[in-house]
Amino acid sequence: MILIKLGGSVITDKSQYKKFNKEQASRLCREIAESGRSVMIVHGAGSFGHVLAKQYAIQNGLVDFAQVAPAAMVHHDAMELGLLMTSELMAVGIPAASVAPGSCFVMEDGRIIVNDEEALRRLAHIGIMPVMFGDVVMDRKQGFAIVSGDQLMEVMARMFKPERIVFVSDIDGLYDSNPKTNPDAKLIPEVTPEVLANVSSEEDVADVTGGVRGKMEAMLRMCSPERDCVLMNGTVPGRLLELLKGNEVTCTVARM
Ligand code: IPE
Repeated sequence: MILIKLGGSVITDKSQYKKFNKEQASRLCREIAESGRSVMIVHGAGSFGHVLAKQYAIQNGLVDFAQVAPAAMVHHDAMELGLLMTSELMAVGIPAASVAPGSCFVMEDGRIIVNDEEALRRLAHIGIMPVMFGDVVMDRKQGFAIVSGDQLMEVMARMFKPERIVFVSDIDGLYDSNPKTNPDAKLIPEVTPEVLANVSSEEDVADVTGGVRGKMEAMLRMCSPERDCVLMNGTVPGRLLELLKGNEVTCTVARM
């Protein structure tokens, strides 16, 4: 099985509150179906999560009663995106169930505590893809917290032991500086903890969950000699399909 995270930057327009990129989401789902590979998907919240979460500092946990209604709204919006994504998957013939992470996990100080994985396993077992997504979940210490799709990838990887892990984003991979602001930025084809320590960090726009650096750190935790963990650009038509077919594509591979 290949575990894929479809980043919020590819399935939504991150600069516009709740703007679904239906065309791109549908194309990526088609590429996944066409590859014929066994796949499991996690997706980000994009502008269905980050915009409001940032505005009300939901990532800091519950510190002010004024955050309660917006936290509920972020969850509502994330669920809406979840349904849009499972509609796209079912349209290409992949039976899928959107599973809110807060229905099986809680957090403690921003760390996921896996309370109940039975529903996820049973769905997968009968051939319905459980699709988790970045969302607001309850936290034992902070009241609520944001769980990122990247954190969920780590939980799903432990649970389902994929042979390969793919992060689909809107950049070709990790660069030595920000490619959106520096035209001389160079792609790093292979990243190790030492390489990452020397890469400059710049905050992403409206990102409350750590941006590219946080993703790379998660990727380094998930990769192993037997398991590739790659970051690739899903905005390029056909690239995900090629990667899933086992062909070489432009990307960054994480190695310990
Ligand atoms: C964000 O999840 C969750 C919320 C802000 C509610 P991610 O961090 O995985 O989302 P993307 O991929 O960056 O959009």
